[in-house]
Amino acid sequence: MNPIVTAFMHDPTGSLTYVVQEPDGPRCAVVDPVLDYDDGASRTSTASIDPVIACIRKRGLTVDWILETHAHADRLSAAQDVKAQCGGQIGIGEHIVEVQQIWKGILNLGNAFRADGSEFDHLFKEGEHFRIGALEGNVLYTPGHTQADVTYLIGDSAFIGDTVFMTDYGSARADFPGGDAHILYRSIQKLYALPPETRLFLCHDYLTEKRQQHRWESTVSEQRVLNIQINAATSEETYVQFRQARDKQLATPKLLFPSVEINMRAGQFPPPESNGRSYLKIPITRA
Ligand SMILES: [Fe+2]
Repeated sequence: MNPIVTAFMHDPTGSLTYVVQEPDGPRCAVVDPVLDYDDGASRTSTASIDPVIACIRKRGLTVDWILETHAHADRLSAAQDVKAQCGGQIGIGEHIVEVQQIWKGILNLGNAFRADGSEFDHLFKEGEHFRIGALEGNVLYTPGHTQADVTYLIGDSAFIGDTVFMTDYGSARADFPGGDAHILYRSIQKLYALPPETRLFLCHDYLTEKRQQHRWESTVSEQRVLNIQINAATSEETYVQFRQARDKQLATPKLLFPSVEINMRAGQFPPPESNGRSYLKIPITRA
């Protein structure tokens, strides 16, 4: 059985949110919901997740799962908003604990932040099965971009997080703390070993000079032949050399620190301080 997939493009960050629905019933999952964030004002908005929630309500769907492919480094998660309004369990790969441990150190969060994954309702293991009504899901551990990335394979559709992008754009960066180009290569090989007709739903689309319309769906067979950075014939050594050189040229995402601090808490704000307000931490590096 295969899902009905509805994509929502978040233009400010080139991110995708998906509603993944059983074909003959009311159960669904929401993959990678996005919360808008104005960093100048440090104010969130639900402008982009509201249409997703409206779609769920209009179709009379019940949310079983809110699935995070990883702790995103470029935009905030709206998992808490989806959960508050529609219910559902928030799930992420179990290796989020390692991401939390790294960032607990970087942000000097102290013992109040336990770094045990407890902010999430469920931590998925490699190979774990789950259900969305009559749909069957399976979890593939696909790290490299971060230590915690997972792919959710639901029927014929794989939600692949930051691994490959559209074939004309290439693949995800592997230079964040805990990222590793070798490991990303092996994760992409795992995706390329899926049946060739498997539908791959991307986490991002950034457009190219030649293509000015967003696309977010590809297949294993297309990627194996056409991906400009890593096709089925690309060796690990070639890919890693390319990836590491490219990553050195990439700027740090503008919302890196706010995103990771919120997203590794399953979209919750840090605990309020004595005046009742939450604060984000941003380390400063002196030149
Ligand atoms: Fe990412």
